[in-house]
Amino acid sequence: MDNKIFTKLSYGVYAVSTWDNGRPTGCIVNSVMQITSSPATIAISMNHNNYTHKCIEESGKFAVSVLTEKTDPAVIGTLGFFSGRDTDKFEKVAYELKSYMPVVSDSCGYLTCKVINKMETTTHTVFLAEVEEAAVSADAEPMTYAYYHKVIKGKSPKNAPTYIAEN
Ligand SMILES: Cc1cc2nc3c(=O)[nH]c(=O)nc-3n(C[C@H](O)[C@H](O)[C@H](O)COP(=O)(O)O)c2cc1C
Repeated sequence: MDNKIFTKLSYGVYAVSTWDNGRPTGCIVNSVMQITSSPATIAISMNHNNYTHKCIEESGKFAVSVLTEKTDPAVIGTLGFFSGRDTDKFEKVAYELKSYMPVVSDSCGYLTCKVINKMETTTHTVFLAEVEEAAVSADAEPMTYAYYHKVIKGKSPKNAPTYIAEN
């Protein structure tokens, strides 16, 4: 199998946030896709080892913030390369409450979601969620995964579904 083909698939860059017993937490994902329009549903792929996984399992809710080309790369650094297990990520990342969910301020919009189903794989859970509320908050270019790699020169850590081991 030519694994290079996986680098030809297109994604965006998002923050998935949720509650951990009253404390906001979350991580970066590229794996957000719309599944249906009516009712509006989306799916995300979340690694079993991510602390965010446990918190979504427990709360049954999450928000997706759409990051932009102008989003401070430190937001991706904090949310994508540390774990909420041992750090309060939202002490460093500004957020606001939308429909009772924490949403990253440095974004161009958000969706708040309720988990309605899930599918297990060996490493990741695919959460299917109904979108409860959504808004566009800024007229900014959303960040694509290609932009993240080519312009920001960002890497994808081990728990990302698109991770490729470096030789
Ligand atoms: C660009 C990028 C994309 C990522 N995509 C995903 C993803 O789709 N699913 C996933 O489970 N982890 C993904 N990750 C990895 C998590 O963000 C990372 O493991 C994070 O540290 C988990 O934090 P937590 O333990 O607080 O949940 C991605 C990270 C980056 C930087």
